[in-house]
Amino acid sequence: MRILVLISGRGSNLEALLKHQQNYTVTHVVSNNFKARGIDIAVKYGINNTCIDWSNTISAENILIDVIEESQADLIVLAGFMRILSKHAVQFFHNKIINIHPSLLPKYPGLNTHRKVIENNDPKHGASVHLVDNLLDHGRVLAQTQFKVEPNDDAEALAKQLISKEHKLLTSVMSLIGSAKLTWDDEHIFMNDKKITKPLMVE
Ligand code: GRF
Repeated sequence: MRILVLISGRGSNLEALLKHQQNYTVTHVVSNNFKARGIDIAVKYGINNTCIDWSNTISAENILIDVIEESQADLIVLAGFMRILSKHAVQFFHNKIINIHPSLLPKYPGLNTHRKVIENNDPKHGASVHLVDNLLDHGRVLAQTQFKVEPNDDAEALAKQLISKEHKLLTSVMSLIGSAKLTWDDEHIFMNDKKITKPLMVE
C-alpha cells in the first residue's frame, strides 16, 4: 500500500511511519509549511516531497490533488497537518484520508487537548486515528490508544507521554490497513472481515 503523508511541522509521526514501514510504503510527503522539520526528515529518507503555499486554499488543494494522483497513493495520512481540507478534497478522496489526533475522540477536537484533559481532571488521555470528513477532527474512529493520567501530570508531561504512544498507534494501524486486516466501507469498519462497533485499542 502506498501512502502520502501530509505534515505541517515537527514530523515525529512521519518519522515513525518511515522507520516502521511494514505492509505500507511512504511514497510522498506534502507540507503546507516550507520550514517544517518533517521536510528535513523526508529528505533524509530520500522521500519525494512537495511544499505547497496554502494562502489560497482552492489553488493549494488543486495542487495537492495533482500531487496525490501523480504519487498513486492508496491512502492519505494527515500527521500533524494543521489545515482543514475542504469538502471538495475530502469527497475527491472519499474514505481514503485518515488523521491522527491527540485525544480520545469524540473528546476534544481541535487544539490544546493535553491542557483540556488536565483542566477537566480526566482520569485518562489518549490518541485516535480516524477517517477524515470535512469537520475538524471528526469522522469514524478506527483505533485509539490510552493511558492513565497521574495526579502530578501536567499538560507537558501528558504531551511527552502521548507522542510515543501515537507513534505506536499510527504505525500499527497503518500496518493493519496495509495488510487488509483493518478495512471499512461507507457504513462499517471491519477487523479480519468482522464488523467492529468500537475503535480498536492499541497498547
Ligand atoms: C501530533 O500530536 C498529532 O496527533 C497532531 O499533531 C501532532 C503532530 O506531531 N495531529 P508530529 O509533527 O508528528 O511530531
